Amino acid sequence: MSTEHPSGNVHVITHPLVQHKLTLMRRKDASTNSFRRLLGELSTLMAYEITRDMPLSDIEVETPLETMTGKVIDGKKLVLVSILRAGNGFLDGMLTVVPGARVGHIGLYRDPQTLQPVEYYFKMPSEMEERDIIVVDPMLATGNSAAAAVAKLKELKPRSVKFMCLLAAPEGVATLQKAHPDVPIFTAAIDRELNDHGYILPGLGDAGDRIFGTK
Ligand code: URA
Repeated sequence: MSTEHPSGNVHVITHPLVQHKLTLMRRKDASTNSFRRLLGELSTLMAYEITRDMPLSDIEVETPLETMTGKVIDGKKLVLVSILRAGNGFLDGMLTVVPGARVGHIGLYRDPQTLQPVEYYFKMPSEMEERDIIVVDPMLATGNSAAAAVAKLKELKPRSVKFMCLLAAPEGVATLQKAHPDVPIFTAAIDRELNDHGYILPGLGDAGDRIFGTK
């Protein structure tokens, strides 16, 4: 259950359970425990939506009664790529519904001089050219890290790339779509704007701090 954003390849997941849980997560007095639990539940629900068009192939299966042709997910295992560190908050919930998925990690920090993302960690499964990728990061803020991560992943020539976040700022959507118009964005909401410190308004604060209980 999602609606297409007028700007194109952006899907806002409008399922009532997703919207309800997102609102609970936004509350400033949500504990680390409940924030993390809600993120886990939300990522399971969002994983269900984002995998809706995964290609299937036919296989023969023997039931206790006869042989039939069944459907299975086609190709090599899906890869979930977490943008460190907040992206890790999405992994457990998504792996609940796609337990065989492989997991990659990308670490990026913002250079204080150029304000551009600089990579400090990159670890992916093998045979990426035969795989579908879902890049996960709860907050699509400026979009610079997401765009850089997708550019780096495209060098590995994967079969497809999608991007999944919890909240997006219009600025982040524009940046990622401009750099990678072929990459669909799945989000639970598009908020109003970014503030001068790069936080999404109204947002939910620092997703990494809220997931890990740091400050
Ligand atoms: N990252 C966050 O964790 N929160 C924001 O609002 C923006 C970027």
